Amino acid sequence: LRAFLQPKRLAGRRVLLTAGPTFEALDPVRGLTNSSSGRMGFALAQACVEAGAEVTLVAGPVALPTPVGVTRIDVTSALEMRDAVKSALAGRHIFIAVAAVADYRPAQSAAHKIKKGAATLTLELVANPDILAEVAALPDAPFCVGFAAESRNLDEFAEGKRRAKKLPLVVGNLVQDGLGGETNAVTLFDEAGSHVLPPGDKLTVARGIVEHIAGMLSHAQD
Ligand code: CTP
Ligand code: CA
Repeated sequence: LRAFLQPKRLAGRRVLLTAGPTFEALDPVRGLTNSSSGRMGFALAQACVEAGAEVTLVAGPVALPTPVGVTRIDVTSALEMRDAVKSALAGRHIFIAVAAVADYRPAQSAAHKIKKGAATLTLELVANPDILAEVAALPDAPFCVGFAAESRNLDEFAEGKRRAKKLPLVVGNLVQDGLGGETNAVTLFDEAGSHVLPPGDKLTVARGIVEHIAGMLSHAQD
């Protein structure tokens, strides 16, 4: 009911999101990943649909149902996520990177199961591309929103990421406040400063973030 009573603040906007972790294979049965349930990204996708947007969600491996009205593209690794984002980017007004992308991947992925035996095993990792930074650096970049999940110094690190990646908006949270749970407490960082959203369940918080994005976009048009 709420969705019908709200003004459609993102009507006519096309939104692309990433959500969930990525999984970087070491061999056919093992890999490196990040801890992320995907719930915040899926809640944001739903909140964008409620606000009238056309929404595509690029999702890493998660166990979540697709919100009604969302077009979902499933991927596994960071490189696949980057390819899917690039393919879906044309004509998007807003890009929201919620995914916990693995910063590194194994330099090699073995074709067959690695057998135990050696007393130590050293993995060589190579850096993954930063999907959000790449999108934000495009000449015709959409309005880009980043997430910063930190374990300390939230203000410093989140605002630092906003500036480093040249983003209009970063959503920051302390991992102890949100990871894996149903609720979240976030602070929004933009050019004007920081704004603490009331803590709540992830859908409520997502609606607050969408409201803030819509406000920034409508100001940008004035
Ligand atoms: N991100 C991304 N691609 C990556 C890494 C991060 O798109 N390879 C995005 C995330 O989706 C998030 C933002 O960048 O929106 C910040 O991610 P985070 O891991 O918090 O920051 P990093 O820039 O990777 O820095 P660090 O992990 O060292 O804190
Ligand atoms: Ca990272």
